[in-house]
Amino acid sequence: MKGQEYKEAFARRISERAEKISPTVEIDPVLPDFGDKKTTEEKVDWIASQLTIEEKIDFLSGVDMMAIRGNERLNLPRVWCSDASSGVRCFGPGTSFPALLALTATWNRETIRTVGEAIADECRAIGVSVLLGPGVNIYRIPNCGRNFEYMGEDPYLTGEMVVPYIDGVQSRGVAATVKHFACNNSDYDRHRMNAVVDERTLREIYLPAFKKAVQKGKVMALMSSYNPVNGTYASENGYLLNDILKKEWGFTGAVMSDWVSTYSTQGPVKGGLDLEMPNGMFLNRKTLQPLLEDGTVTEADIDEHVRRTLRLVIETGAYDKAALDTTKRPQPGNHRELARKAGAESIVLLKNKKNILPFDGDTIKRIVVIGPNSLATPTGGGGSSYVHAVDPVGIYDGLKTALDGSIEVGFVEMDTSAVATGEVNLGTLTEDKKAALREADAVVVCAGYNHVIESECYDRSWTLPEGQAELIGTAARLNPNTVVLVNAGGGFETESRLSEVAALVHVFYLGAESGNAVADVLTGAVNPSGKLPFTIAKRWEDHPASKNFPKDPDATSERLSNGPEVRRKGLEWSPEQLRNIPSEQWDIPYEEGLFVGYRHFDTRSVTPQFPFGFGLSYTTFALTNPKVSVETVGANDGLEVTVTVNNSGRREGAEVVQVYVADLESSLPRPEKELKGFAKVFLQAGGEKEVTVSLDPEAFRYYDPDKKAWTAEPGTFEIFVGSSSRDVLSAGTVELK
Ligand code: BGC
Repeated sequence: MKGQEYKEAFARRISERAEKISPTVEIDPVLPDFGDKKTTEEKVDWIASQLTIEEKIDFLSGVDMMAIRGNERLNLPRVWCSDASSGVRCFGPGTSFPALLALTATWNRETIRTVGEAIADECRAIGVSVLLGPGVNIYRIPNCGRNFEYMGEDPYLTGEMVVPYIDGVQSRGVAATVKHFACNNSDYDRHRMNAVVDERTLREIYLPAFKKAVQKGKVMALMSSYNPVNGTYASENGYLLNDILKKEWGFTGAVMSDWVSTYSTQGPVKGGLDLEMPNGMFLNRKTLQPLLEDGTVTEADIDEHVRRTLRLVIETGAYDKAALDTTKRPQPGNHRELARKAGAESIVLLKNKKNILPFDGDTIKRIVVIGPNSLATPTGGGGSSYVHAVDPVGIYDGLKTALDGSIEVGFVEMDTSAVATGEVNLGTLTEDKKAALREADAVVVCAGYNHVIESECYDRSWTLPEGQAELIGTAARLNPNTVVLVNAGGGFETESRLSEVAALVHVFYLGAESGNAVADVLTGAVNPSGKLPFTIAKRWEDHPASKNFPKDPDATSERLSNGPEVRRKGLEWSPEQLRNIPSEQWDIPYEEGLFVGYRHFDTRSVTPQFPFGFGLSYTTFALTNPKVSVETVGANDGLEVTVTVNNSGRREGAEVVQVYVADLESSLPRPEKELKGFAKVFLQAGGEKEVTVSLDPEAFRYYDPDKKAWTAEPGTFEIFVGSSSRDVLSAGTVELK
């Protein structure tokens, strides 16, 4: 229980922390007088020229847990930050939206953009100028406690979905912060796990989404990660921050550290970190003066960092107008409606035997809901992204409201201690309760994880919490119409019970409107169109990363309860405590290289339980006549792929057309095929549309570590079009000249 106690204490601490901080934002602040300075660079120059060296040093670190410092002398206000991707966590109630992984499962760029806009409006409504999200770390193993905060296993999908999210946020005068740069692919021991990853894998798998966020999304801020990458802490990793991010990609914004992820003074200043968060533990007047005196650090070094932070703030507009804009407060219902719509669009229907779903009132008169996530359905995973949902709607309530008058909805209560642990005590399933399950026309089991057991700061188990698989099996034996809903931030063990259940639905974490969103899909008000942004394996060992991963990821919290995380109680940490953290690094070799997710399963012919890109609908789609626009391409050409999509079923719905590229001959090993384009298409029953997906020249390239460059190697490429990585048609081949 030690681990569980730790997890519960952590969840409490995180929410207290969010409540304790209150921003000092004014409706009508006195702002700096920029005179005739108009452009960002002119304003940056002017402020930098006014600041003393001491004041500049102050600008290297944050203050009050969530703010970028101000300067009274120059009337520069403090600028407030808040977590993050699924809503505004700090400073009072915000709308709890679906988790980023769920939004990615929509494969709908417009949906994710709209959510980004809404979250940014909520930021402005309370005076927050910097949103501390989105997170784009690749889903390398299902155990990572933060997968739900990220966007799945594919760098292309992540990059394509993060750009509209950033656009949405930044279009409203709020900076987005892409995080955690880089290779924070597990929270097992994030201060010490040294990601040992080769150059090509870094470039092809772990960095592309960051690159797109910078170059296409024009993201204003970036957060470094806790962990070392190839032996150097991310917050002082000059190769990542200076060479790649700033020089090669041309990032002009500010790099902030993750909260308490700095480990020295000289390292970050020289290594490319601009802002130490949440406060100046290592970057302060006392530590920097001697380094300035002996020349290890120069004023020019400091100027460079300060200028970037100033640029970030100026671009949000926070020095020109009040960050607080009360007109942006969500109107009753509007963001809830959006959360519900996006939530329903995220849901992935994995199995639907004999079309048990949507529930048909002609044959189903009474359903019974059971399981730990029925009433207090978890709205989000845990940690810094957790938004306290106001009036959250659980699944039982959502179904009851939706089915009112048509189908009776009952509830079978079990041991309620299950709420925090997710564990189920089957002993409490008495004979009369079993009878209720047996006699119902269908049973809905609400299973899965929650914000205590699936959270930042530790990893989670591959198997569902204790007793849940047994509960699912028992329900399925008692009632053949058993529908299982699972809240999870990724894949989980399904093999043991899958054949027994009638339906399986992945419901992620869907925010305050969870119950309504789920009800919309179960009743058929919304036809599911979500597609997995990750592969669900049959066995944990099928994940290539499992070979170099702690065998018992769940033990993480046991270790932490005796370890450094727990020593950092309260809001401030002393440097002495911090110095204890990185006592020793240990290597986590990314030996599988490029072969992450479907790149592994498809190349090595390992059959997944559910492939990447998979998701069922209540209608059926036929993809025919796939074609490529040209037979040959040059190294800098793209091409168009077309396919006819027909809704061959009896109701309207949406299909995601996925385009994969396979390099048939290459000097270096490449994955069998890789996602390089997609489009979501909505069709009425019987409707048909020719869908065109453009591939850009990058679709054919790989990173050649010898040349230190992306290379388009001449040869034959085959283009596939389909509805999952395992359900594709050839659209033909093209010769790259
Ligand atoms: C998390 C970040 C978050 C920060 C501020 C850290 O613990 O890793 O993702 O933005 O806290 O709350």
